Amino acid sequence: MKQAQRCVRMTLGICFTLALFPALLLAYGGVYTLTKHGDPLSGVQRDVSLPRGDCNQCHLPHSGYPFFPFADHTNALCYSCHNGAGALQIYQGQAVYDLSTHATSASMVWPSPPPARQAGDWGECVNCHNPHGYKDGTGLVPHMVWRREENLCKECHDGSPASDVYTEIGKVSSHPVTTYSGRHAADEGGDSSKFGTANRHAECVDCHNPHWAKTDSPSPPDASSRLKGVSRIVVGLGRTLTYTGPADTTAVKEYEICYKCHSSWTTLPAGTTDKAAEFDPANGSFHPVEAVGKNTDIDSRTLVAPLTATSQVYCTDCHTSDNTGVRGPHGSIYAPILKKAYFTGDNSSPPSTDVCFDCHVSTQYLTDTRASNSTYTHFRDGTSSGSKNFHYVHTVKDAQTSCKTCHYNIHGTTSAHLIVFNTAVVSSSGGQIRYEHRSDGGACTLKCHGKDHNPKSYRWK
Ligand code: HEC
Ligand code: HEC
Ligand code: HEC
Ligand code: HEC
Ligand code: HEC
Ligand code: HEC
Ligand code: HEC
Ligand code: HEC
Ligand code: HEC
Repeated sequence: MKQAQRCVRMTLGICFTLALFPALLLAYGGVYTLTKHGDPLSGVQRDVSLPRGDCNQCHLPHSGYPFFPFADHTNALCYSCHNGAGALQIYQGQAVYDLSTHATSASMVWPSPPPARQAGDWGECVNCHNPHGYKDGTGLVPHMVWRREENLCKECHDGSPASDVYTEIGKVSSHPVTTYSGRHAADEGGDSSKFGTANRHAECVDCHNPHWAKTDSPSPPDASSRLKGVSRIVVGLGRTLTYTGPADTTAVKEYEICYKCHSSWTTLPAGTTDKAAEFDPANGSFHPVEAVGKNTDIDSRTLVAPLTATSQVYCTDCHTSDNTGVRGPHGSIYAPILKKAYFTGDNSSPPSTDVCFDCHVSTQYLTDTRASNSTYTHFRDGTSSGSKNFHYVHTVKDAQTSCKTCHYNIHGTTSAHLIVFNTAVVSSSGGQIRYEHRSDGGACTLKCHGKDHNPKSYRWK
């Protein structure tokens, strides 16, 4: 089949007509000599009798060359030189690429011209790269790809032929993938300033390596192979934050990729917090992203199965699309990129559709479990059966307030049980807003909804 198509090309006469080459060069935007392939000093070379960068390093007009008459656009041509890792290590060689979804999916075809793809030509480097270079309105597109930044991925990831990530990116709360261009550079590497302030950005390739990405589903905190082969921040002894490059794919944790842009390793925008500080396992409490949580007492019947006190979760268990068909923190109709809405207000009850209830059993928080006395959260008023459920009292029965009123810092904080009060709702009593954690309960000093707690205590043990 491919051989037949080659013959068609030959009868068109373009294959061997060297005189047409300048015209063809123009067809490619005249950029070949600006690419790394076309560089006369360091460009392509297989045949030492020909100059570096010569077209005939890949295209031989006569037989004797394995890719006669034109270099076939199979990966074998590319591998003849690119069998190992590229200089920037985003490309990591044939062995890695051949296992990637882009190499193995039969849907991996370029949907629109150029280039005109042929039946059966899927999974190829030339689906994304133009070995002659490509120029758009802004000039030469870096790395000889067919489109600039996310526009390359968009060609396929808009629902056809690949999953529709683009609709997610366009949602009201999303990573600013389309917002910025010219900020990402493949060699941004370990320079933290390239991720902060005026360089702040998030391109598809900041989180995905198109030469690596493939399907699997490990357990948190281990990153899935969709996210391997990109740079990340490793947390070392003493909470040092250290950059490691794309070639280091050992023990990748999902949060390490997020820390590249959401920790104090780089300069964070005003009003956002250092996630590496919030998820520090030395904190008084935290959601179990980096390590198993501090609350070893939590009753597993208050957690949605199969979660228990020793479970860990991903950032993306909360920060993912509202469309469960496309996993990942690309975008959501619920800010900030949440799987479901998070009600953070006051004077009405949190709905059972709150994101929290993906993992915490809603009835334990929103109904009077005293009557059934099935199970309890530890925010209750006594040790005996029939004791009041203070979660229900505060979220529904008396106070009608949101989880955020008492659990203000949802990621992690120095105090126990994620208890930090929302001062937009809670005011001080005798000059204090305070939570005292006790091994069998706790005490709160504050004023809320006109009620003075000075202090009020509870006991569950
Ligand atoms: C690094 C290898 C390489 C070099 C160097 C190279 N080509 Fe190509 N060329 C290819 C491959 C691979 C294809 C098939 C592309 C496809 O099917 O998408 C191709 C296809 C073509 C085609 C067919 C039209 C098309 O786009 O499919 C022409 C014409 C062509 N090349 C001309 C040139 C000229 C002129 C030069 C030098 C200025 C050159 N090539 C240098 C690899 C190369
Ligand atoms: C004859 C050898 C040779 C062949 C065949 C070859 N390349 Fe290259 N390629 C090179 C050299 C040399 C460089 C420049 C050195 C480097 O950056 O690694 C390069 C660089 C690249 C780069 C990096 C460009 C940049 O600006 O960062 C890409 C992408 C690339 N090649 C893709 C391909 C693809 C796709 C094919 C197959 C269609 C291919 N190459 C075939 C030799 C080759
Ligand atoms: C799904 C699209 C896609 C496919 C398929 C693809 N690449 Fe790439 N490649 C990219 C993108 C995008 C970049 C630039 C990454 C960046 O900007 O950080 C890149 C960068 C590169 C680089 C330069 C970076 C480095 O590590 O030196 C090389 C070399 C390269 N690709 C080679 C290849 C080869 C060879 C193949 C086929 C075996 C291939 N690519 C297949 C999208 C692709
Ligand atoms: C020529 C079409 C094409 C282009 C261009 C393309 N992809 Fe894909 N990609 C696919 C197909 C097909 C799949 C597998 C099926 C699916 O996810 O719909 C896929 C899957 C993926 C996956 C999931 C892998 C898995 O196994 O679950 C990721 C991540 C991905 N692509 C990222 C990218 C990124 C980033 C870019 C741009 C640099 C890109 N893709 C460009 C066709 C493409
Ligand atoms: C390459 C940089 C980069 C990486 C990696 C990254 N982000 Fe972001 N993220 C951003 C930028 C830029 C924004 C826009 C707001 C800002 O500048 O902080 C953002 C915004 C967000 C928001 C929305 C914040 C809001 O207030 O609307 C969430 C949630 C988020 N990221 C979660 C994650 C998660 C989870 C990960 C890891 C899976 C991650 N991010 C990885 C750059 C990144
Ligand atoms: C248990 C669910 C959950 C997990 C796990 C989680 N988040 Fe969040 N995150 C939230 C909620 C809910 C908000 C909104 C908080 C609010 O409105 O008070 C939020 C807010 C944010 C914001 C916007 C506010 C800001 O400070 O910039 C970013 C960015 C963010 N999270 C990133 C992350 C990253 C990165 C991780 C993992 C390292 C992570 N989150 C893990 C639930 C979670
Ligand atoms: C801030 C980081 C980040 C950015 C930016 C990002 N992704 Fe993702 N993406 C993820 C994460 C995390 C997942 C989920 C991985 C998992 O759980 O296996 C994901 C999943 C995917 C999947 C698989 C979805 C599924 O359910 O099958 C595809 C395809 C994909 N991303 C493509 C893209 C494309 C294309 C872009 C750019 C338009 C992009 N991503 C931008 C982090 C990101
Ligand atoms: C992806 C699952 C998941 C989601 C969504 C989730 N949590 Fe959690 N949460 C957990 C797990 C697992 C624990 C148990 C950790 C432990 O044992 O320390 C936990 C523990 C807690 C704790 C107790 C921490 C301690 O040290 O006692 C609070 C408070 C909490 N979550 C509040 C919330 C709120 C509020 C929301 C909604 C914004 C929420 N959670 C969403 C999984 C989740
Ligand atoms: C009026 C304040 C308040 C509100 C509102 C509140 N909580 Fe709590 N929550 C607490 C206190 C106090 C504790 C600590 C109980 C203890 O000592 O173990 C707690 C503990 C927890 C725990 C740990 C459970 C356990 O059994 O140890 C989870 C999970 C939790 N809350 C989730 C939520 C969710 C989800 C919401 C919103 C639906 C919410 N909380 C609303 C005060 C509150």
